[in-house]
Amino acid sequence: MVVSRWDQYRRLVQDRAASRIATVADARRLAMRRVPRAVFDYIDGGAGAELTLGANLAAIEAVQFRPRVAVTMGVPAPGLRTSVLGVPVAMPVLMSPVGYTRMMEPGGDVAGVRAAGKAGTIFTLSSMSGHSMNEVMAAAAQPAWFQLYFLGGRAGAEKLVARAREAGFSGLVVTLDTQVTGNREREQRHRISPPLKLDLPTMRKMATQVAVRPGWLAGVAHDRFQLSIVNTETLGTRGEPMSSEEAFLHWVASPARWEDFTWLREQWRGPILAKGIVTGDDARRAIDSGADAIIVSNHGGRQLDSLPGALRSLVEVVDAVGAEVEVLVDGGFRRGADVVKAVALGARAAMVGRPWAYGLAAAGQPGVERVLALFREDLDRTLRLLGCASVAELNLSQVRVPQDW
Ligand code: FNR
Repeated sequence: MVVSRWDQYRRLVQDRAASRIATVADARRLAMRRVPRAVFDYIDGGAGAELTLGANLAAIEAVQFRPRVAVTMGVPAPGLRTSVLGVPVAMPVLMSPVGYTRMMEPGGDVAGVRAAGKAGTIFTLSSMSGHSMNEVMAAAAQPAWFQLYFLGGRAGAEKLVARAREAGFSGLVVTLDTQVTGNREREQRHRISPPLKLDLPTMRKMATQVAVRPGWLAGVAHDRFQLSIVNTETLGTRGEPMSSEEAFLHWVASPARWEDFTWLREQWRGPILAKGIVTGDDARRAIDSGADAIIVSNHGGRQLDSLPGALRSLVEVVDAVGAEVEVLVDGGFRRGADVVKAVALGARAAMVGRPWAYGLAAAGQPGVERVLALFREDLDRTLRLLGCASVAELNLSQVRVPQDW
């Protein structure tokens, strides 16, 4: 493979930036410095008063550990391996779908899936990707999942499902909490709203921010400002591309409903995961409708505001359906220790959205790799300090939860 001068230079800069990331908070700070404020706020922001965003972190803080000291040996290292829906993973940390990653750094989802392969975990490709399903699967070293939005309505969704199957994705993640986009006030302040574009009017709105971010500008210019949601382009009839505006209109008119699980089940052989569940009742409904697993998620606080923290919702969902299906959770996980709490409370694994997006925006693929390595290191350390030989041994006896949970 021929590596261009530009790619060599970019890699050097990114390796250097990645080496300065010691925590997810560092990745966040570096991202803030590297991308225009509007792009950073798209990643970082939540909906409304950002109460759910804060609640995700507060719920994790509210759970404490109950270690058993002087029981584990230093060697061998604790077992971090587990499996999710039959797929072996090197650690119980998976990658949540994140839209518009090509705007953060041109490597986008291709960089994300490569980093997932190196970390031995599952990557989830957002419907809102700037790279095609085939480009992403070509870079995948591990099974990957496709996240479905009903772009183009039911007819569009059917085409996306067929294409995801042909591209070789193993799991289908159906996001159910996005009937309309959440009230992201930070984005409104920048006067940008989905479908996002890197076109002239947008660049004009961001002009003063872009002027002080030459590194970012050079990257997206070299990538020819490509940001279109490639999945929508091929949804039109008679070979005509469908505009993202039109795809969004159809989606808002007919988002995913429980009834849709019947045809989804017919067209998808692999596991179907219902994402965006925050109550035991909805988890029950998802399983009765044909879902194979639940992803407890409040969309990282980006959709309905004033929800409990995701870890709190996890407890309710595990109580309701944890004995029947695998339950995953995302929202606010920033360290290996946070993930340990989720697994102790009954999650099969935790998923992360912003952590990998910060890593990507801060330092491209090396940045994502670094963030995943940090989760791994902290998982290892936390298990040793807890007196636990493997993630399989984690259970409720190792955590103290608030009484009203
Ligand atoms: C998201 N999320 C998301 N979810 C989804 O189903 N489809 C999508 O296209 C996106 N896009 C997206 C963009 C950005 C910038 C963020 C931060 C998040 C939600 C995501 O999958 C996940 O639920 C949250 O990010 C989890 O919370 P944390 O880890 O970001 O705190």
